[in-house]
Amino acid sequence: MSDPRPDDVLASEDVHPALRAALDRVLDPELRRPVTELGMIRSAVLDDSGHAAVHVLLTISGCPLRSTIERDVHEAVTTVDGVRSVAVEVGVMTAEQRTALKARVGHTRTVPFNDPGSLTRVHAVTSGKGGVGKSTVTVNLAAALAARGRSVGIVDADVHGFSVPGLLGIDRGPTQVGDMILPPVVDVPEHAREDTGRAGVLKVISIGMFVDPDQPVAWRGPMLHRAVEQFLTDVHFGDLDHLFLDLPPGTGDVAISVAQLLPSAEVLVVSTPQQAAVEIAERSGALAVQTGQRVAGVVENMAGMPMPDGTLLELFGAGGGARIAESLTRRLGYDVPLLGAVPLDVALREGGDTGRPVVWTAPDSPAATALRSVADALGSRPLGLAGRPLGLGPR
Ligand SMILES: Nc1ncnc2c1ncn2[C@@H]1O[C@H](COP(=O)(O)OP(=O)(O)OP(=O)(O)O)[C@@H](O)[C@H]1O
Ligand SMILES: [Mg+2]
Repeated sequence: MSDPRPDDVLASEDVHPALRAALDRVLDPELRRPVTELGMIRSAVLDDSGHAAVHVLLTISGCPLRSTIERDVHEAVTTVDGVRSVAVEVGVMTAEQRTALKARVGHTRTVPFNDPGSLTRVHAVTSGKGGVGKSTVTVNLAAALAARGRSVGIVDADVHGFSVPGLLGIDRGPTQVGDMILPPVVDVPEHAREDTGRAGVLKVISIGMFVDPDQPVAWRGPMLHRAVEQFLTDVHFGDLDHLFLDLPPGTGDVAISVAQLLPSAEVLVVSTPQQAAVEIAERSGALAVQTGQRVAGVVENMAGMPMPDGTLLELFGAGGGARIAESLTRRLGYDVPLLGAVPLDVALREGGDTGRPVVWTAPDSPAATALRSVADALGSRPLGLAGRPLGLGPR
């Protein structure tokens, strides 16, 4: 006998058409699909006295977003003509319903970004040296694209030094539905949304959401590999326009795992202009020669800061980003552009400390302007350059 179809398992018992129309507009906060489509409305009835009774099914008991879903359902039903009172009852899906839900959203335990038909641009953000602003740049590029109405995912693959949740002010963990992990979603604040007709979202997964923040992550290669793999297979991001991976500094285990698991990821090299940083950044970019990944470009960070008297404070020197771009162009045999130079900017650092990306809070500040133009460059590069086979093999 074949498995029951998701449509049958997720079918609602009794839903009043007017209530259904209202509930169609309620989105699950994590999956971002209508609760009606996800089988989360068991029943919704309206009696002659104008009392609406809605039975909602959550994916898991103790769902952290229970109150959000309850509130949204309540609000939507209250707006329906003829409704005088609303009662929302909350239950939990059965294991069978959860399985049907996974099938409905198309969750498979493979890396969806490797599908030949995948439209997601994947960027692995790397640097040689630590502390050059990789995570800050990653988060702001992702936030800038989300403000443009794109759906963007971030995998914080800096297993030992995860920082992305803090940079975005995320204090919630993912929701686990069987073997499917739903990442927390950050909405672009209203004031930061550009007029594109689409509401962008940012979905983030980080090792920091799975381990005790006070304990160091003492993992070796195989465990690191498995963690990155799980992020790519078990985490359900849904359809993304962009995925960013914030890698640890250097050319260690995680960078190699990402190259193996996502051969089509394009590499973004971040460096300060400082000579020492430049040399190591060249090496991390040149890892792409061995892995077969394409280097999309170089972002120079902590470039000169404009001073009130009009001079430029070049704390870390100048011209390093261009030198890396030239050297990688020579080594890789294709044009590796300098995508932008992001100046030292107090607003950028403060945005990181407060969990509110500067591209949202001060989009016209010097750093945000530079980052938004890098984001533009990523968004407009032609698709289809990636997907080169992995060139790693025994010597
Ligand atoms: N352009 C900039 N202007 C001012 N401060 C910056 C700039 N870029 C980054 N910073 C600050 O520098 C520090 C390091 O940045 P970040 O954590 O993003 O670096 P990283 O390369 O991800 O570090 P790690 O190697 O530890 O992962 C942070 O405090 C950040 O706010
Ligand atoms: Mg970092």
